[in-house]
Amino acid sequence: MRKNIVAGNWKMNKNLQEGLTLAKELDAALKGKTLNCDVVIGTPFIHLASVATAIDLSKIGVAAQNCADKVSGAYTGEVSAEMVASTGAKYVILGHSERRAYYHETPEILKEKVLLALANGLTPIFCIGEVLSEREAGKHFEVVKSQIEASLFNLSAEDFGKIVLAYEPVWAIGTGKTATAAQAQEMHAFIRKTLAGKYGETVANDTSILYGGSANASNAKELFSNPDVDGGLIGGASLGVDKFLPIIEAF
Ligand code: 13P
Repeated sequence: MRKNIVAGNWKMNKNLQEGLTLAKELDAALKGKTLNCDVVIGTPFIHLASVATAIDLSKIGVAAQNCADKVSGAYTGEVSAEMVASTGAKYVILGHSERRAYYHETPEILKEKVLLALANGLTPIFCIGEVLSEREAGKHFEVVKSQIEASLFNLSAEDFGKIVLAYEPVWAIGTGKTATAAQAQEMHAFIRKTLAGKYGETVANDTSILYGGSANASNAKELFSNPDVDGGLIGGASLGVDKFLPIIEAF
Protein backbone atom coordinates (compact mmCIF):
# COMPACT_ATOMS: atom_id res chain seq x y z
CA MET A 1 0.00 0.00 0.00
CA ARG A 2 1.34 3.41 -0.84
CA LYS A 3 1.90 5.86 1.95
CA ASN A 4 1.23 9.53 2.30
CA ILE A 5 4.49 11.27 3.13
CA VAL A 6 5.34 14.86 4.00
CA ALA A 7 9.11 15.28 3.80
CA GLY A 8 11.10 18.38 4.56
CA ASN A 9 14.27 19.20 2.66
CA TRP A 10 16.21 21.68 4.72
CA LYS A 11 18.83 22.08 1.96
CA MET A 12 21.90 24.00 3.20
CA ASN A 13 20.12 25.79 6.03
CA LYS A 14 20.42 25.67 9.84
CA ASN A 15 23.64 25.13 11.77
CA LEU A 16 23.76 22.12 14.07
CA GLN A 17 22.23 23.87 17.07
CA GLU A 18 19.47 25.46 15.00
CA GLY A 19 18.74 22.16 13.28
CA LEU A 20 18.52 20.28 16.56
CA THR A 21 16.18 22.92 17.93
CA LEU A 22 13.92 22.66 14.89
CA ALA A 23 13.89 18.86 15.01
CA LYS A 24 13.04 18.85 18.72
CA GLU A 25 10.31 21.45 18.23
CA LEU A 26 8.75 19.34 15.49
CA ASP A 27 9.02 16.22 17.64
CA ALA A 28 7.26 18.02 20.50
CA ALA A 29 4.58 19.40 18.18
CA LEU A 30 3.76 15.92 16.86
CA LYS A 31 3.68 14.23 20.25
CA GLY A 32 0.31 12.65 20.96
CA LYS A 33 -1.03 13.55 17.51
CA THR A 34 -2.48 10.94 15.17
CA LEU A 35 -1.18 11.68 11.72
CA ASN A 36 -2.48 10.60 8.32
CA CYS A 37 0.99 10.69 6.78
CA ASP A 38 4.57 9.72 7.47
CA VAL A 39 6.83 12.65 8.33
CA VAL A 40 10.46 12.89 7.21
CA ILE A 41 13.07 15.61 7.67
CA GLY A 42 16.02 15.87 5.30
CA THR A 43 18.88 17.50 7.16
CA PRO A 44 22.47 18.30 6.25
CA PHE A 45 24.82 15.34 6.82
CA ILE A 46 26.38 16.69 9.98
CA HIS A 47 22.98 16.93 11.69
CA LEU A 48 21.85 13.39 10.99
CA ALA A 49 23.22 11.50 14.01
CA SER A 50 22.32 14.19 16.55
CA VAL A 51 18.83 14.68 15.12
CA ALA A 52 18.22 10.93 14.98
CA THR A 53 19.00 10.57 18.69
CA ALA A 54 16.98 13.64 19.72
CA ILE A 55 13.62 12.71 18.20
CA ASP A 56 11.12 9.86 18.22
CA LEU A 57 12.12 7.98 15.08
CA SER A 58 8.86 6.09 15.06
CA LYS A 59 7.15 9.42 14.40
CA ILE A 60 9.69 11.28 12.26
CA GLY A 61 12.02 9.67 9.73
CA VAL A 62 15.38 11.24 9.03
CA ALA A 63 16.77 11.69 5.51
CA ALA A 64 20.14 12.66 4.12
CA GLN A 65 20.04 14.97 1.10
CA ASN A 66 22.63 13.02 -0.87
CA CYS A 67 25.07 10.13 -0.63
CA ALA A 68 28.18 9.08 -2.52
CA ASP A 69 28.12 6.99 -5.67
CA LYS A 70 31.01 4.92 -4.32
CA VAL A 71 31.08 2.34 -1.54
CA SER A 72 34.04 3.70 0.45
CA GLY A 73 37.65 4.75 0.11
CA ALA A 74 39.68 7.69 -1.14
CA TYR A 75 36.86 10.09 -2.03
CA THR A 76 37.65 13.14 0.08
CA GLY A 77 34.59 14.99 1.25
CA GLU A 78 32.09 12.31 0.29
CA VAL A 79 29.63 10.55 2.60
CA SER A 80 28.65 6.98 1.83
CA ALA A 81 25.20 5.42 1.98
CA GLU A 82 26.50 3.08 4.69
CA MET A 83 27.59 6.09 6.78
CA VAL A 84 24.18 7.70 6.32
CA ALA A 85 22.44 4.51 7.45
CA SER A 86 24.72 4.23 10.49
CA THR A 87 23.35 7.55 11.83
CA GLY A 88 19.81 6.21 12.13
CA ALA A 89 18.61 7.91 8.94
CA LYS A 90 16.21 5.77 6.93
CA TYR A 91 15.89 7.88 3.80
CA VAL A 92 18.10 9.65 1.30
CA ILE A 93 16.99 12.33 -1.15
CA LEU A 94 18.64 11.60 -4.51
CA GLY A 95 18.61 13.35 -7.86
CA HIS A 96 17.45 16.70 -6.56
CA SER A 97 17.53 19.24 -9.39
CA GLU A 98 20.02 21.33 -7.42
CA ARG A 99 22.43 18.38 -7.33
CA ARG A 100 21.85 17.67 -11.00
CA ALA A 101 22.37 21.31 -11.99
CA TYR A 102 25.11 22.53 -9.63
CA TYR A 103 27.04 19.32 -8.98
CA HIS A 104 26.62 17.74 -12.39
CA GLU A 105 24.99 14.56 -11.19
CA THR A 106 24.19 12.53 -14.27
CA PRO A 107 21.58 9.78 -14.61
CA GLU A 108 24.42 7.22 -14.50
CA ILE A 109 25.84 8.62 -11.25
CA LEU A 110 22.34 8.66 -9.77
CA LYS A 111 21.82 5.06 -10.77
CA GLU A 112 24.86 4.09 -8.66
CA LYS A 113 23.64 6.17 -5.73
CA VAL A 114 20.24 4.50 -5.83
CA LEU A 115 21.82 1.03 -5.82
CA LEU A 116 24.07 1.89 -2.87
CA ALA A 117 21.19 3.46 -0.95
CA LEU A 118 19.09 0.32 -1.42
CA ALA A 119 22.01 -1.96 -0.56
CA ASN A 120 22.28 -0.13 2.75
CA GLY A 121 18.59 -0.30 3.57
CA LEU A 122 17.85 3.35 2.84
CA THR A 123 14.69 4.47 1.08
CA PRO A 124 15.62 6.76 -1.82
CA ILE A 125 13.36 9.78 -2.32
CA PHE A 126 14.19 10.16 -5.97
CA CYS A 127 13.55 13.57 -7.55
CA ILE A 128 12.54 14.20 -11.14
CA GLY A 129 11.22 17.25 -12.91
CA GLU A 130 11.55 19.47 -15.94
CA VAL A 131 12.94 23.00 -16.28
CA LEU A 132 10.74 25.81 -17.55
CA SER A 133 12.01 25.74 -21.14
CA GLU A 134 11.22 22.01 -21.34
CA ARG A 135 7.66 22.59 -20.13
CA GLU A 136 7.21 25.49 -22.52
CA ALA A 137 8.40 23.28 -25.36
CA GLY A 138 5.85 20.64 -24.33
CA LYS A 139 8.63 18.19 -23.46
CA HIS A 140 7.89 17.79 -19.74
CA PHE A 141 6.40 14.30 -19.94
CA GLU A 142 9.25 13.04 -22.11
CA VAL A 143 11.89 14.58 -19.79
CA VAL A 144 10.41 13.11 -16.64
CA LYS A 145 9.97 9.71 -18.25
CA SER A 146 13.57 9.61 -19.39
CA GLN A 147 14.84 10.67 -15.94
CA ILE A 148 12.97 7.73 -14.41
CA GLU A 149 14.07 5.28 -17.10
CA ALA A 150 17.72 6.32 -16.99
CA SER A 151 18.26 5.97 -13.24
CA LEU A 152 15.62 3.55 -11.98
CA PHE A 153 14.40 1.15 -14.65
CA ASN A 154 17.41 -1.10 -14.13
CA LEU A 155 15.84 -2.06 -10.78
CA SER A 156 13.88 -5.25 -10.18
CA ALA A 157 10.20 -4.76 -9.36
CA GLU A 158 10.99 -5.71 -5.77
CA ASP A 159 13.65 -3.02 -5.47
CA PHE A 160 11.59 -0.45 -7.32
CA GLY A 161 8.93 -1.03 -4.69
CA LYS A 162 11.31 0.56 -2.15
CA ILE A 163 11.56 3.86 -4.05
CA VAL A 164 9.66 7.05 -3.24
CA LEU A 165 9.40 9.50 -6.16
CA ALA A 166 9.23 13.26 -5.88
CA TYR A 167 8.04 15.26 -8.87
CA GLU A 168 9.63 18.67 -8.53
CA PRO A 169 9.17 20.92 -11.54
CA VAL A 170 12.34 23.01 -11.43
CA TRP A 171 10.44 26.19 -12.30
CA ALA A 172 8.40 25.79 -9.12
CA ILE A 173 11.32 25.27 -6.71
CA GLY A 174 11.90 28.24 -4.45
CA THR A 175 10.09 30.54 -6.86
CA GLY A 176 6.71 30.82 -5.15
CA LYS A 177 5.26 29.61 -8.46
CA THR A 178 3.60 26.31 -7.45
CA ALA A 179 2.35 23.92 -10.08
CA THR A 180 -1.42 24.00 -10.10
CA ALA A 181 -3.16 21.04 -8.53
CA ALA A 182 -4.21 20.03 -12.07
CA GLN A 183 -0.64 20.22 -13.41
CA ALA A 184 0.62 18.14 -10.50
CA GLN A 185 -2.13 15.53 -10.90
CA GLU A 186 -1.58 15.33 -14.65
CA MET A 187 2.14 14.62 -14.24
CA HIS A 188 1.72 12.27 -11.29
CA ALA A 189 -0.85 10.23 -13.23
CA PHE A 190 1.55 10.13 -16.18
CA ILE A 191 4.37 8.94 -13.89
CA ARG A 192 2.16 6.22 -12.44
CA LYS A 193 1.20 5.11 -15.95
CA THR A 194 4.89 4.97 -16.88
CA LEU A 195 5.60 2.80 -13.82
CA ALA A 196 2.65 0.54 -14.65
CA GLY A 197 4.05 0.04 -18.16
CA LYS A 198 7.34 -1.21 -16.76
CA TYR A 199 6.47 -2.88 -13.45
CA GLY A 200 2.71 -3.47 -13.62
CA GLU A 201 -0.29 -1.89 -11.93
CA THR A 202 0.42 -3.18 -8.42
CA VAL A 203 3.90 -1.66 -8.17
CA ALA A 204 2.66 1.56 -9.79
CA ASN A 205 -0.26 1.84 -7.39
CA ASP A 206 1.96 1.14 -4.40
CA THR A 207 4.54 3.83 -5.24
CA SER A 208 4.33 7.07 -3.28
CA ILE A 209 4.74 10.06 -5.58
CA LEU A 210 5.35 13.35 -3.77
CA TYR A 211 5.05 16.84 -5.20
CA GLY A 212 7.69 19.49 -4.51
CA GLY A 213 8.05 23.13 -5.51
CA SER A 214 6.75 26.05 -3.46
CA ALA A 215 4.34 23.82 -1.58
CA ASN A 216 3.11 25.49 1.59
CA ALA A 217 0.34 25.58 4.15
CA SER A 218 -2.02 27.40 1.77
CA ASN A 219 -1.74 25.09 -1.22
CA ALA A 220 -0.96 21.71 0.41
CA LYS A 221 -4.56 20.64 0.93
CA GLU A 222 -5.49 21.19 -2.69
CA LEU A 223 -2.34 19.51 -3.98
CA PHE A 224 -2.72 16.50 -1.65
CA SER A 225 -6.38 16.04 -2.52
CA ASN A 226 -5.38 14.76 -5.96
CA PRO A 227 -5.63 10.98 -6.32
CA ASP A 228 -2.05 10.58 -7.54
CA VAL A 229 -0.34 13.10 -5.23
CA ASP A 230 0.80 11.20 -2.16
CA GLY A 231 2.44 14.02 -0.27
CA GLY A 232 5.09 16.66 -0.59
CA LEU A 233 8.79 17.35 -0.57
CA ILE A 234 8.95 20.71 1.11
CA GLY A 235 11.88 23.14 1.01
CA GLY A 236 11.40 26.62 2.46
CA ALA A 237 8.23 25.79 4.34
CA SER A 238 9.97 22.97 6.24
CA LEU A 239 12.30 25.38 8.02
CA GLY A 240 9.85 26.31 10.76
CA VAL A 241 7.33 24.21 12.69
CA ASP A 242 4.73 26.95 12.23
CA LYS A 243 4.92 26.46 8.45
CA PHE A 244 5.63 22.73 8.30
CA LEU A 245 3.04 21.43 10.77
CA PRO A 246 0.01 22.75 8.80
CA ILE A 247 1.36 20.95 5.70
CA ILE A 248 1.57 17.69 7.67
CA GLU A 249 -1.93 18.33 8.96
CA ALA A 250 -3.22 18.98 5.45
CA PHE A 251 -3.63 15.17 5.29
P1 13P B 1 10.66 24.88 -2.07
O1 13P B 1 9.57 24.22 -1.27
O2 13P B 1 11.47 25.85 -1.25
O3 13P B 1 10.19 25.43 -3.36
O4 13P B 1 11.70 23.70 -2.43
C1 13P B 1 11.21 22.53 -2.96
C2 13P B 1 12.32 21.56 -3.00
O5 13P B 1 13.26 21.70 -3.77
C3 13P B 1 12.28 20.43 -2.07
O6 13P B 1 13.23 19.48 -2.37
